[in-house]
Amino acid sequence: MSEPLFTPDEQKTFDAGIAELLSHYPPDRKSAAMLPALRLLQSLKGWLPPEGMQQVATKLETTVARAYEVASFYVMYHTQKPGKYVIDVCTNLSCALRGAEGLLTYLEQKLDTKAGTNGPKYFLRETECLASCGTAPCLQINEDHHENLTRAKVDALLEKLS
Ligand code: FES
Repeated sequence: MSEPLFTPDEQKTFDAGIAELLSHYPPDRKSAAMLPALRLLQSLKGWLPPEGMQQVATKLETTVARAYEVASFYVMYHTQKPGKYVIDVCTNLSCALRGAEGLLTYLEQKLDTKAGTNGPKYFLRETECLASCGTAPCLQINEDHHENLTRAKVDALLEKLS
């Protein structure tokens, strides 16, 4: 028999969290709570495992296909288990003008990976504008934002990742 998705405490947190979310929506519009429900699942498991997607769909009275449709639209939702550190490097115009592509290449060399490749420790990705154009170039590590980057700053950030 496979392990349950949630520990008993996680299941309580999930059930209570979904109930709280649904209290903000009309009973016939439960699926409108999809984004925060996915966020809740991801906060508990670090990604969106299939069994969790099934639970979200059931609670929101919609289909699993609909849950995947929404989740796969947004890069911040992980439908595949990501590496321990998800590093999103903005390579849009402002960041590109301030050296983002060189920084991405530097990260690829330092981490011995290629952008877009998911590994057990790092998932390095190029991403669209992170709304920090005035402080370019920038990146996020597990959604923590870092800006005005230089190679020295990147080195210091990477040193903190165990
Ligand atoms: S272009 Fe990089 S934050 Fe906007």
